Amino acid sequence: MRKVLFVCLGNICRSPAAEGIFEAMINRQGLERVISCDSAGTSGYHQGDLADKRMRETAEKRGYKLTSRSRQIDLHDFNEFDYILVADESNKRNVLSLPGVKEGQVFKILDFSLENKGEDVPDPYYGGDKGFDLVLNLLEESLKNFLSKVKKEIA
Ligand code: 4NP
Repeated sequence: MRKVLFVCLGNICRSPAAEGIFEAMINRQGLERVISCDSAGTSGYHQGDLADKRMRETAEKRGYKLTSRSRQIDLHDFNEFDYILVADESNKRNVLSLPGVKEGQVFKILDFSLENKGEDVPDPYYGGDKGFDLVLNLLEESLKNFLSKVKKEIA
């Protein structure tokens, strides 16, 4: 089993969307027994909340149902998850400062993008509605490539 944790700041916009998209890809390809995912925030500001309504509605239009509840990243996550994929550079700094994080465990989500390699997934929270569709476009492209990589590793 390979386990992936998506991480952003609030765990109500970018990382729950990544989780919903990646889970849909896993299910579509019948990989539920070999790959799983979850999401968390570096902050606990929105602990227990569903994803932001604008994010849920934009995702639903593409067929993704975002049902996860926000939680803060936990030090046990470093033992639990093989990959920790963060949305931006600030998330990466925060995660890498926590005790117990392993060498080579943390990546940016867009490290796997061909079109926007290594860039940040922009935080849509304070921006306009267009930001939510942009986030989904970035996530879909990069996570497709990331899933191919994980599949090759377990093949
Ligand atoms: P996210 O977006 O990190 O993509 O979930 C944010 C949501 C809320 C806040 C920041 C970012 N906030 O400061 O409340």
